Amino acid sequence: MTDVQRYKGVLISLIFVVFIFYAYELDFGYLESVGELLSIVTDEPVNGSFPITFYQSAYVDHRFDPPRLRIFTINKCLKNNQFLLADLHFNKNNSAPVRKNIYGIPLNRKCPINYIEQEGCVYNPYTFSIVLNRNEDLSKVTILLGSRKVELSVQKIYKKSTEGITVCLQPVYYYSQWQNIVLYIEAWRAHGATRFIVYFHSATKETWKVLEYYRDLGLIEIKSWPGYPSLPVDIAYKYPRIDDSVFILSYFMAMNICILDIKTTIGTVADFDEVMVPTNGRLLDYAAKEMTGTKAGALIFENHYVSFTPKIYSANFSGVGSPKFKILAWPSKYVFNASTIDIAQVHVPDSFTDSSMISKKADGALLHFRYDAESKNLTTTEKPFRFFPDDEHSTHIKNMEDTAQKIFKGVMPKFSSKPYDTLQECVNKIMKAEDKICVSTGGLCKAEMDKVEDWVYAKSEPLFLIVT
Ligand SMILES: *[C@@H]1O[C@H](CO)[C@@H](O)[C@H](O)[C@H]1NC(C)=O
Ligand SMILES: *[C@@H]1O[C@H](CO)[C@@H](O)[C@H](O)[C@H]1NC(C)=O
Ligand SMILES: *[C@@H]1O[C@H](CO)[C@@H](O)[C@H](O)[C@H]1NC(C)=O
Ligand SMILES: *[C@@H]1O[C@H](CO)[C@@H](O)[C@H](O)[C@H]1NC(C)=O
Ligand SMILES: *[C@@H]1O[C@H](CO)[C@@H](O)[C@H](O)[C@H]1NC(C)=O
Repeated sequence: MTDVQRYKGVLISLIFVVFIFYAYELDFGYLESVGELLSIVTDEPVNGSFPITFYQSAYVDHRFDPPRLRIFTINKCLKNNQFLLADLHFNKNNSAPVRKNIYGIPLNRKCPINYIEQEGCVYNPYTFSIVLNRNEDLSKVTILLGSRKVELSVQKIYKKSTEGITVCLQPVYYYSQWQNIVLYIEAWRAHGATRFIVYFHSATKETWKVLEYYRDLGLIEIKSWPGYPSLPVDIAYKYPRIDDSVFILSYFMAMNICILDIKTTIGTVADFDEVMVPTNGRLLDYAAKEMTGTKAGALIFENHYVSFTPKIYSANFSGVGSPKFKILAWPSKYVFNASTIDIAQVHVPDSFTDSSMISKKADGALLHFRYDAESKNLTTTEKPFRFFPDDEHSTHIKNMEDTAQKIFKGVMPKFSSKPYDTLQECVNKIMKAEDKICVSTGGLCKAEMDKVEDWVYAKSEPLFLIVT
């Protein structure tokens, strides 16, 4: 017998043992695995009749070794056996594109999306990935959907080496509380943040002015997050418009794309009313000390609702010096090692590029100055947490007030809760709808929002592509 034959023999006997074990122990389990095996045989490509939209760029993520191609989409739930059929084009003379089947998972692991109360949602954020060879230089990806196709450009991602914190912002959506942004940017800066990546959909003129001010200082990068395209006409009539209820999906998507764009060692995703602070010192020093050279890939900060007296909405920031806390540990937020985070969820990391990495509870707090924090039925507690890491609160407060004066040239806009209330009313209406409807804002609220304010909207070509 040759070696090959001998191994074959061993293999066949092994398969037999497994077979008998399965048949004996788990009749039904065995039948199911046969079912699974058969379904693998009948895997089918996603074709042009499937509702899907693609983020315009694919990524080659060299934080993994070997690197991985990653594609981001919004689509209807996939069956286990569905894959994207793609042609990978390489920068190599005379090389034909390589055809691959690429499988995907929902970004939040559940389909349909289970975030808050989303049972009526048809669409879900997905990520598709496949391992590449180390020395291949990918130039373009063509997704083949039957007779149609979509072309994605390719960006390369590497481990992050610049020391600092980058803060990612979800698509800013009908945003009116510009005072939050001033406190947010100044507090995060004092804790070591060097760059803010702000995905922008819509905001009041006042909010836009604040964003422009910090953009011109070179601190924030405003990236347009415009509406989504309609599905191809021959299938559009069968499905709801993607853009209608897309807010939560955009949130998951923007967060995970933003992570790839971070160039600093540490990153975080936080809303305009959230600042993470350690009990002592600066966040950057604390996070670097806790994570560098350890298995900790993320530090989780427990939620502390914060209220200020007076409120900051009159652009008087004096209350920031003596915040009051109402504690409800969940929902938490986190900072992460930007070289190792793989998929991010909203409140905890989902996975790391190195599966031995873990999350760790931080010695600190998420200071959450939510608009409705006052109305939370929780006891107010004394806590040592402060927004700024030094003892110069009065200097920071004066700086924030001066900054507001500068941005508005001494004429402070009067605060109105109308835009905020209108958005809440619109969402409440969606929640009370009789039909199962996706409880997420989006195009659905546009008409109502346009009645109360002259919004600044993102102007750019759609970031998501459909088949043509
Ligand atoms: C497209 O895919 C669906 C579901 O996978 C399948 O039922 C249908 O026959 C396919 N259409 C074409 C034209 O291949
Ligand atoms: C392809 O061939 C040309 C001419 O021989 C050469 O100049 C070029 O560098 C090659 N490109 C790659 C990607 O190998
Ligand atoms: C992040 O992870 C990389 C890879 O494990 C490690 O080399 C680096 O020291 C970590 N950086 C921080 C700030 O935790
Ligand atoms: C801010 O409000 C406090 C309390 O109402 C008041 O004493 C203070 O003068 C105000 N500061 C400014 C700059 O308006
Ligand atoms: C607030 O919480 C307390 C204790 O849980 C409860 O007795 C009270 O009814 C609550 N009040 C409101 C307005 O929900």
